[in-house]
Amino acid sequence: MKKTLLLATLASLLASQVFAADPVKARKEVFKQYKQTFGQMGKMTKGSTPFNKDDFAKLAAHLDALAQQPWQYFPVSTATGKTASETDAKPEIWSKADWKKAIDTHKAETAKLKQTAASGDLGAIKVQFAAVQKTCKACHDSFRKD
Ligand code: HEC
Repeated sequence: MKKTLLLATLASLLASQVFAADPVKARKEVFKQYKQTFGQMGKMTKGSTPFNKDDFAKLAAHLDALAQQPWQYFPVSTATGKTASETDAKPEIWSKADWKKAIDTHKAETAKLKQTAASGDLGAIKVQFAAVQKTCKACHDSFRKD
């Protein structure tokens, strides 16, 4: 038990060190999980995967947790583009107040989707899913290279 705990602590320490050394890699990792989670949700709203209320609610809760994470991995030290890993982030992230606004709007819509998902009302879920999708696109249009 103790050994497992120690190993887990070591592993997370190592992970945070890797992330500190390479924040670009860290944020991309989170965005990859975004894609996976959001993709599964999208399939359910479109009906290409059968809609399951409980599964969808779990995915929405996971997305809401993910929505808290990437932004800490955008330190100003990565603004030059000369980072250990290649980045598609635009330098405007560090010069425009809209960046913070884009994050806040995204987080608000994601939190709302989590709430709507708990209701299980597919019609309302579809509307709110689209609202979240809009915040992804809006931010990518302004702050991510094509
Ligand atoms: C507030 C801004 C913002 C929001 C909101 C946002 N993204 Fe991004 N996203 C970025 C930026 C900036 C990058 C580029 C990161 C880099 O290359 O350093 C990115 C990169 C990505 C990538 C590519 C990761 C890689 O491996 O290179 C995916 C996939 C992605 N986002 C998916 C999403 C999805 C899905 C959503 C919505 C559920 C979303 N993003 C919401 C800013 C945002």
